[in-house]
Amino acid sequence: MTLHKGASARPGHPVNPFYGEADPIGGMDETPPRHTLPDGPLAPHTAYQYVHDELMLDGNARLNLATFVTTWMEPQAGALMAECRDKNMIDKDEYPRTAELERRCVAMLADLWHAPDPAAAVGCSTTGSSEACMLAGMAFKRRWSLAKDRKGARPNLVMGANVQVCWEKFCTFWEVEARQVPMEGDRFHLDPRAAAELCDENTIGVVAILGSTFDGSYEPVAEVCAALDALQERTGWNIPVHVDGASGGMVAPFLDPDLAWDFRLSRVASINTSGHKYGLVYPGVGWALWRDAAMLPEELVFRVNYLGGDLPTFALNFSRPGAQVVAQYYTFLRLGREGYRAVQQATRDVAMSLASRIGALGDFTLLTHGDELPVFALTTAPATTAFDVFDVSRRLKERGWLVPAYTFPPHREDLSVLRVVCRNGFSQDLADLFLGDLEQLLPELRAQPRPLHRPARKATAFHH
Ligand SMILES: Cc1ncc(COP(=O)(O)O)c(C=O)c1O
Repeated sequence: MTLHKGASARPGHPVNPFYGEADPIGGMDETPPRHTLPDGPLAPHTAYQYVHDELMLDGNARLNLATFVTTWMEPQAGALMAECRDKNMIDKDEYPRTAELERRCVAMLADLWHAPDPAAAVGCSTTGSSEACMLAGMAFKRRWSLAKDRKGARPNLVMGANVQVCWEKFCTFWEVEARQVPMEGDRFHLDPRAAAELCDENTIGVVAILGSTFDGSYEPVAEVCAALDALQERTGWNIPVHVDGASGGMVAPFLDPDLAWDFRLSRVASINTSGHKYGLVYPGVGWALWRDAAMLPEELVFRVNYLGGDLPTFALNFSRPGAQVVAQYYTFLRLGREGYRAVQQATRDVAMSLASRIGALGDFTLLTHGDELPVFALTTAPATTAFDVFDVSRRLKERGWLVPAYTFPPHREDLSVLRVVCRNGFSQDLADLFLGDLEQLLPELRAQPRPLHRPARKATAFHH
C-alpha cells in the first residue's frame, strides 16, 4: 500500500441540489470532508454517488496495457465472488467447502506443474505472487539456516537484475543479501553461468522468472538448473531453484507444454503464480507450491482449526477474502486445460500480431515479440530522434491507453522501453483500435523538434 501522509482540512463545496436541498430524504449541505471522518452519516444513495463520481477519474481497466492483472471475468464468476465476499479464507472450520476448493486448486496446480508425486506436493493460496515469493524465500532461508555451521554467516539469494520488486522486498525484509546478475548487451534476463558464478556456500537459492516483468521473456530455467548441477559437482553446494511463474506459470503449461521449467526439473523446489494474472481471476489471489513437504520446513507452518482437527497453513496475513479462491476454482473448472489453452493462445496471437504490426511502422525496434508471455517491449528505432518512448506513452494516455515507459535496470539503464501487456479481453478488435490510435499520433510525434516528455527522474523503478 502507498504510505500515505495526513492532510489538512479543506472547506466543503456546495453540492448538486439532487443530493442537497432537492433531496427530501438524505440532503446534505455541503460535500463531506476529504481527510477527516464526517461528523454525521450520509444517506446510502448520496454516499454511493459521491464515491462513484470520484472513481470516474480512474483509468479504464480494460484499456490498461500496463497491468498483468485480470480486468475482465464472466458475470458468473462475479456472482460467485459476490456470494463469497463475506467468507474469511482463514476460517477453515467455519467455511470447510471454501477450504476444500483451495485444496483442490493446489492439487490441480501440482498436477499441472508436474510434481513427481502430486499428492506429496504442498501449497497454499496467497494474496498474490508477492506474498507467495516471500513464503518461498522464507522456506529457502529456513532450510539454509537449519544446516550446520551457519553461525555468523549472511545468507544470499541469486537472481537477475530484472526481478520484480517483490524479491528486493524479500531480501530487505528478511535480511538476505540480494545478488543480482546485471543485464548485458541484448540479454535482458538471467544468464545461467553468471548466476552460478554468484553462488557460494551461503546461497539459499536462485530465482528464475517465467517470464520477465520487464519484457515478457522466459528465463532459461533448465539451463540455470544445469549450471547449478555442474556447480554442485565442483563444490558440493546443493542450491535449490525457485521459479517465479507469476505470469508464465499459467501460460507455459498450456502453450509450451514441452518446455521443462517446472517440477520436471529436480532442482526446482518451489513455484509461485498469480491467480490474478494469467490465472484469469480478479485481484488478489496467488499460489505457492513446494515439490514436497521436505522443501517447506515444518517450523514455518501454523495450524488452524478444521473439522475438529487442525489444518496446516502458511501465510503472512491471517484474514483474507475467500472469494478469489472460489473464483480460481470456478475458472479451473470452467475452462479446463483446453479452455485455458484457447484463451492463452488467443492472447498470444493478439500480442504477436500487434508486435509485428508495430514493428512494421519503422519507428520502433522490438525487443521481444509476444511469443513467450503475451507481452512485448519496444524502444524507438535508432533513426527515430524526434520523439522517445516517454512521448509515446504520454500521447497514448490522451486516448485512454495506458502503456508504461521505463528504463531498464543495470547495465542497460541507457535503454528506455514501452511495454504492452496483452490479456484476455484485449481482443484483436481492440488491438486494431490501439494501432489506429498510435498511427494517428505518429505524424505529430515525428514532427516534434526533439523528445519532449522525458521525466526528470528516470523511471527505472517500474515494477508491475
Ligand atoms: C515476475 C513477477 N513476480 C512477482 C510479481 C508480483 O506479483 P503480485 O502483483 O501478484 O504480487 C509480479 C508482478 O507483476 C511479477 O511479474
